[in-house]
Amino acid sequence: MVKICCIGAGYVGGPTMAMIALKCPKIEVAVVDISAPRIAAWNSDQLPIFEPGLDEVVKECRDRNLFFSTNVEKHVAEADIIFVSVNTPTKTRGLGAGKAADLTYWESAARMIADVAKSDKIVVEKSTVPVKTAEAIEKILTHNSNGIKFQILSNPEFLAEGTAIDDLRAPDRVLIGGRETPEGKKAVQALKEVYAHWVPEDRIITTNLWSAELSKLAANAFLAQRISSINAMSALCEATGANVSEVAYAVGKDSRIGSKFLNASVGFGGSCFQKDILNLVYICECNGLPEVANYWKQVIKINDYQKSRFVNRVVSSMFNTVSGKKIAVLGFAFKKDTGDTRETPAIDVCKGLLGDKASISIYDPQVTEDQIQRDLAMNKFDWDHPIHMQPVSPTAVKQVSVTWDAYEAAKGAHGVCILTEWDEFKKLDYERIYDSMQKPAFIFDGRNVVDAEKLREIGFIVYSIGKPL
Ligand code: NAD
Ligand code: UGA
Repeated sequence: MVKICCIGAGYVGGPTMAMIALKCPKIEVAVVDISAPRIAAWNSDQLPIFEPGLDEVVKECRDRNLFFSTNVEKHVAEADIIFVSVNTPTKTRGLGAGKAADLTYWESAARMIADVAKSDKIVVEKSTVPVKTAEAIEKILTHNSNGIKFQILSNPEFLAEGTAIDDLRAPDRVLIGGRETPEGKKAVQALKEVYAHWVPEDRIITTNLWSAELSKLAANAFLAQRISSINAMSALCEATGANVSEVAYAVGKDSRIGSKFLNASVGFGGSCFQKDILNLVYICECNGLPEVANYWKQVIKINDYQKSRFVNRVVSSMFNTVSGKKIAVLGFAFKKDTGDTRETPAIDVCKGLLGDKASISIYDPQVTEDQIQRDLAMNKFDWDHPIHMQPVSPTAVKQVSVTWDAYEAAKGAHGVCILTEWDEFKKLDYERIYDSMQKPAFIFDGRNVVDAEKLREIGFIVYSIGKPL
């Protein structure tokens, strides 16, 4: 029986290993983590992450051939294939701070593997890492190996949160990079055989190590670039009377461009786009390519611009001040169908409104008050560095209240900002919301989810992204 161990039971490690366990009943899969509460949650009825379809998959395999454990060393020692799916955040201090990837977690995982391994292993980079990381990992492993042989593979993950289970069940592609030596090819083949249990062969791409590592950064950069491109257009639409949805539709009909990922928004969020592009920018700079670095940096700059443009619009349209006004924020997660708030645009928007002394009432169907308060109290990039986590300071964000009810959030508000595209926001009783608000009642739709014309008929003043007033 092949044994797999995955280090890191997060948004990637948990769901990807659950899918492998589901599709490969003869493989024993152990997911390990240093965080005891996280492992306890994976072993409970309340999984640590909200992801449609995940509960069912975990229930089917858990304690059959899928195990969650804090006994990292035991499972690493026993495994034939070790996936490393730890966090690789942006460095907050030292060389490359604010851009470079912090590989502390990865390096400590690699050193631990070298320490406990007693047989040859395939070590798989599942985390998103800078190109050439495998070289560094190889050095750590081989210099501490006591004769044990390690093959490093790059197998980046392309799932998106909210659709992780569908993405894993039927991936567009699985990418495996390895050394072009006989041992390297054998390792690639071994991992390919795992995925071949359910992924058609023509969707399993094999490349050299550096292409696989770089393809992941490139894919995220291209995806984010599309959003910044349409968001840049949304500013021009607002200035000219064009409608960004019509422009996106017309542009996306060109089969060379395609229609997906062209939804204008308040800005992209999530744990990866910004960090991976900053990482790409840093790699370009380190390789003496400042023009290429600047090109990709612009994707982030437009995203920051889009968020501040949104805040400016709220303030300027509400007679140039939101001081003392109640603003309801509907949606705090970085996208629908997830409770994840990492780098959510809602953080910057709320901070911007708080900067203008608004009082904010937030509702999100999946995000707790604790999480929101922590997010609003934290410094940029600190969220992925557990050691920087400060306890919530009750005075830090006192103009913020959080409710479990959209109507409660909107009651008495001067304006409503929609910051996540939750389906339920389309179906709210906006007449009721209008009746309970101060007048004039404003809606700022940061996701273009509501029918602006209908809301105008009710009496709202509606601002959508990239659309005529
Ligand atoms: P996460 O923070 O949810 O999970 C990482 C886990 O690793 C944490 O639970 C942490 O406790 C654990 N960990 C850290 N160091 C460890 C160690 N030495 N030993 C054992 N456990 C350790 O992160 P994530 O969202 O799952 O992302 C992981 C990687 O996958 C990142 O590189 C990310 O860029 C990449 N990625 C993420 C997504 C996504 O949708 N979240 C998608 C594709 C790729
Ligand atoms: C993204 C990629 O889509 C995944 O392929 C990748 O594996 C992952 O990053 C990663 O490396 O972490 P994710 O961040 O989970 O996945 O979610 P997306 O659906 O890509 O959305 C990212 C952000 O862009 C969200 O805030 C979303 O609301 C926003 N977005 C997306 C738009 O504003 N407009 C769009 O048209 C699409």
